[in-house]
Amino acid sequence: MRLSHLTSFLSLALVAVAQDVSVATVKKAFDAADIPEDVTITFKPTALLEVSLPQATGPPITLHAGIQVPRNDTAGPPTFHVVGNVGPGPFVVATVDPDAPTPQAPTSAQIRHFLGGNFHNQGGLLVNSTPAVSEFRQPTPPAGSDAHRYIFLLFHQSTAFATQTLVNANTSVSNFNISTFAAAVDLGNPIAGTFMLVAPPTS
Ligand SMILES: *[C@@H]1O[C@H](CO)[C@@H](O)[C@H](O)[C@H]1NC(C)=O
Ligand SMILES: *[C@@H]1O[C@H](CO)[C@@H](O)[C@H](O)[C@H]1NC(C)=O
Ligand SMILES: *[C@@H]1O[C@H](CO)[C@@H](O)[C@H](O)[C@H]1NC(C)=O
Repeated sequence: MRLSHLTSFLSLALVAVAQDVSVATVKKAFDAADIPEDVTITFKPTALLEVSLPQATGPPITLHAGIQVPRNDTAGPPTFHVVGNVGPGPFVVATVDPDAPTPQAPTSAQIRHFLGGNFHNQGGLLVNSTPAVSEFRQPTPPAGSDAHRYIFLLFHQSTAFATQTLVNANTSVSNFNISTFAAAVDLGNPIAGTFMLVAPPTS
């Protein structure tokens, strides 16, 4: 085996042990972390959403539900894959933090960390054909806070999403509500998701 092949094999192996492998396990992790309750969603995933965070050096970090990621490794922007029989799309991906500024008193939650549509399924890789509505914002839990949950959700895109005027790049990212937004633009329930925990950096 050539070294380059060995390297890519090892990278694949590293990714393979990290990612979510079962919708039942993901659902269990969401329930254990009180996510459906805290973001007011019905979460019955039928597919897996793989979220990978590129790293300055080394392979990307692929999330599994509930993984804790050092804040420095979360610059992103993430790439998204879907695993499951979900069709060609288009899809919407939303990322929210329900724990801002702290999980104990989330008065500015949810923070919208990403909202993008027109993602198309290209052999599992989700490729968006338009700029995101809200580009990815790196997690910034404030000093002294416990870790926040950063929740990634995949929806089938509705026709109403394409013409929505509720959110644009200039809309405050604070006090967002994914449940209200999804209902307003007919997204239905998420079909897949995952989440990570990010704590403030220890200086
Ligand atoms: C995080 O990144 C900052 C800026 O790049 C750097 O100064 C700091 O040492 C990093 N911290 C860790 C724990 O890697
Ligand atoms: C956001 O605000 C900037 C500056 O006021 C403006 O140029 C831009 O068109 C706005 N974008 C949207 C999507 O409203
Ligand atoms: C979001 O909206 C739902 C209704 O769709 C509501 O029950 C929930 O309390 C809201 N969440 C927040 C954080 O405001």
